[in-house]
Amino acid sequence: MTFPIRNFLLLSCLCLVPAFGFADIERGREIYSQVCFNCHGPKLEGGQGPALNDQFWQHGSSPEAILEVINKGVTGTPMIPYESVFPEADRKALRDFIVSEQEGLRETVRSIYPRDYFKGKRFTPELFDSVESESQTPLPENHYYIARDTDGVLRGKSKLYIKEPGNYQFKIRIKGKTSILINGKEVHYSDEKARKEPQINETFNLKPGVHEFEILHEERDPNNLRFWGALQKVGSNKQFVLVGRSLQGNIPKFVRAIPGSAQVVRKWIDGLPPRTLLCLLPNSVIVAYNPVNGEVVKSWHTAEVNQTPSLPDRSAKPSEINGEIISEQPTGGWDGSLVRFIRYEIDGENVIIVSQVDGEEKKTRIEPKGPKAYTLTVQ
Ligand code: HEC
Repeated sequence: MTFPIRNFLLLSCLCLVPAFGFADIERGREIYSQVCFNCHGPKLEGGQGPALNDQFWQHGSSPEAILEVINKGVTGTPMIPYESVFPEADRKALRDFIVSEQEGLRETVRSIYPRDYFKGKRFTPELFDSVESESQTPLPENHYYIARDTDGVLRGKSKLYIKEPGNYQFKIRIKGKTSILINGKEVHYSDEKARKEPQINETFNLKPGVHEFEILHEERDPNNLRFWGALQKVGSNKQFVLVGRSLQGNIPKFVRAIPGSAQVVRKWIDGLPPRTLLCLLPNSVIVAYNPVNGEVVKSWHTAEVNQTPSLPDRSAKPSEINGEIISEQPTGGWDGSLVRFIRYEIDGENVIIVSQVDGEEKKTRIEPKGPKAYTLTVQ
């Protein structure tokens, strides 16, 4: 598997994919930051509307599906049709901008094949092509899973979006028989005879753009997938998981500050203004900051965000904050001035919110203090 000649072949073959063929990304970014960011977050991380850069795509992650939602909206939700708001070129520019922000697996389709046919054979795409699949299912989560007690062999196909060029490798915990291909080239193969410890595969180079990803996989016991795999960028902690669980019936997940560093999230929380920035400090204090007037709306200690899961109804239900309300909090706020929110920054344990107040740039620093408090200073 690790002969130098093979490495060389991979390095030279995987680079032949064109970069995104979309032109008007900057125009799309501009409109996004004027209109869409209000609900989908300044970094597409979500807010009142769902994140537009995560793996879960309720209405489809293909460029066509994204454009369709922009055009037609989603009836009965705050996502209005933008067909009559922007000319076609602008809507396509929005699509191109969103597509350019994607990373990892997208447009994932899982097919299940009858097990008998594959007994004792080496997995290749050609082998799968020569027999009919029993089912084909798009997976909105864009990672692979099977229902309990599925009796069959899995073939998965996805688009692999790469933003950062460089060397990548798969990290796989082996279970059963697995073949992974990128752009039709096999980059991993393991079966019952393979070593059982986690396998780090050979490195290959990926250019920014859209690559074809394919996985062929079978486990002895029909059950949830037991193997684990991720695509990892070498020398970075960037990693795209290949397997996960179905998000249907999932319980809410919690958002906590990353230890040692602050984090800002936008979530729809009942009783808070829709544009509220939730500043998660590493001392488990959460500060709900209203960038419209620079005021702290509420703050909590010993707190975390109970996020609604990425279910079909994820945008229809508000998230919650669990924690103790801080009664004596710094309040912030600007006196009768014209405030415009520009951006936020993370500076280690602190959150810095940059606003324009009567034409002048002001920085509000929110800093953890002790285990249950914070300070707020304006520079
Ligand atoms: C008033 C809030 C709001 C604004 C403004 C808004 N959206 Fe949405 N958007 C939503 C909500 C809510 C949903 C989820 C709808 C649902 O329940 O399916 C959504 C869904 C989407 C989806 C589908 C996501 C998926 O998971 O499939 C896309 C794409 C999208 N919006 C793009 C945009 C773009 C581009 C703009 C700017 C032109 C925009 N939105 C402006 C609230 C908003």
